[in-house]
Amino acid sequence: MSIILVSVVILFLTFVILYWLKSNETEQLPLPPGPSRWECLKLFKYLLRSEDAKMHVVMDDLYKQYGEIVTFKLPGTCMVFLNSAQTIRKLFTSVAYRDVTADRPPSFFKTNLSQKGSDIILRDYDAVQMKLRKMVHTTVKLYGEGIQVFEEMVGSEIRLLEKSMTADGDDTTVKSFDIDAALTTSLIRIIYIFLINETPEDTEKVVEAVDRFDKALIKMFQIEVNLMFTLFPWLRFIPGPIKTSYDYFISSLYAMRSIFLNPEMIKTQEHDKDMTEETVQGILGNIITAGFVTTKGTLSGFFLLMLYHPDVQKRIQDEIDDKIGDMEITIHDRQHMHYTNAAILETLRFIRHVPYGVPHCNRMDVDIDGYRIPANSTIFTNYWSMAYSEKHWENPEQFNPDRFLDEHGKILPLDHPTRQQFIPFGVGRRSCLGESFSKSRIFLYVTSLLQKFTFTKGDDPLPSMYSETWGNESTLLPGSFKCTVTKRLSP
Ligand code: HEM
Repeated sequence: MSIILVSVVILFLTFVILYWLKSNETEQLPLPPGPSRWECLKLFKYLLRSEDAKMHVVMDDLYKQYGEIVTFKLPGTCMVFLNSAQTIRKLFTSVAYRDVTADRPPSFFKTNLSQKGSDIILRDYDAVQMKLRKMVHTTVKLYGEGIQVFEEMVGSEIRLLEKSMTADGDDTTVKSFDIDAALTTSLIRIIYIFLINETPEDTEKVVEAVDRFDKALIKMFQIEVNLMFTLFPWLRFIPGPIKTSYDYFISSLYAMRSIFLNPEMIKTQEHDKDMTEETVQGILGNIITAGFVTTKGTLSGFFLLMLYHPDVQKRIQDEIDDKIGDMEITIHDRQHMHYTNAAILETLRFIRHVPYGVPHCNRMDVDIDGYRIPANSTIFTNYWSMAYSEKHWENPEQFNPDRFLDEHGKILPLDHPTRQQFIPFGVGRRSCLGESFSKSRIFLYVTSLLQKFTFTKGDDPLPSMYSETWGNESTLLPGSFKCTVTKRLSP
């Protein structure tokens, strides 16, 4: 009896000491500042209830109140918002942190929809993720830098788009051209060519399926919607708005897969045990979703900005006339086109249409800048606030490509402090795989179209050029708009 009693006492004391040590250890550094638990709940309720609520605006308010790292506590999860490029670089690229901050947080989508994270975007950082990333990165980068056959296919797609902008007969002006719809069709055709290696027979069917799927996806990836599904996954079975949007998402996912996934694609991967059918499906979905909406957002935003800033459009056209003339434009022209490259970078900064990236998760406690980020936090990169921070940008609300040029009119080098502040594609282990692919497509579209056409505001009202008004999804788009397109005379 006495032995049992002594054992219980020893066990109890051990537990008390361990608990004390543990809590002492975790109290070493405080959590980053942030609103109280009660305020967090109120904000979360506001995000769920109000149609106009935007997560990136809430993040911006918190950044202004609490500084560069902010904690947002909700039952069962701790969210951390990183509000400066410097902190993001430190956490995602330095040897000390980069391997422990590269997972993706647990979520309903990771468990139920991405085949338990067997794709690239939602999978945790491990040897297989690294292998899949490397494989897809090499291919996407190669295409980004201009594989001849693909380049020719893209060239003919851009010519198709140009043709749609030219009125019949001798007319050189189209009064009411829906540029957003034209870009949608053209970019989806290019993704199709990239994945299937041939032009689609039924463009309308492909465009409808991808467009529908993407709209459903960016809605589902909104932080608050994602969190709702993660905390209350059973809501998808109860008739109501949550079930409706879930069912809509699933049906659009299957429609999209039926177009892009063919048995051949899976068969060719059979020799590789890491490339299961689920993984092929997952990667395919990643490229379609990550590759289309983001590039379309940039191009729609760019042409919208040209309508508001004819002076910038004129300077790009002058550069095209000067450096390329009426020759066919290739990706190799990019290196001479400093002002055009600056205008593309400034568009990405100005519209900040991927406001909070894709969340990371840290697999262990991380001490940084005098704070502790507890293990398994959901870490958000607040690109939205960074791109307009008065600390780093002069007159951030002005669209000014010159901010990316030096005194000789050359694009600032990558290690210049201004470029270091600007990381729209993320950095480190989980940075964007499509950076060079999308930059080269954007360059080709912008220069090929401005070489031949001038875009001006027509009679139709335009969306605001400020992306605050572009909705509250995880990728912001200006929506449909029309403009006047005038054919330019050869330089
Ligand atoms: C303007 C265009 C684009 C922007 C602004 C953009 C931005 C981003 C950002 C911010 C991330 C998250 C980085 C992180 O987790 O830290 C990301 C990830 C990713 N992007 Fe992009 N992206 C663009 C275009 C593309 C394109 C064209 C593709 C594919 C062809 C692509 C494929 C991916 C993939 C697969 C990931 C996940 C990487 C991983 O989890 O390891 N993106 N992108």
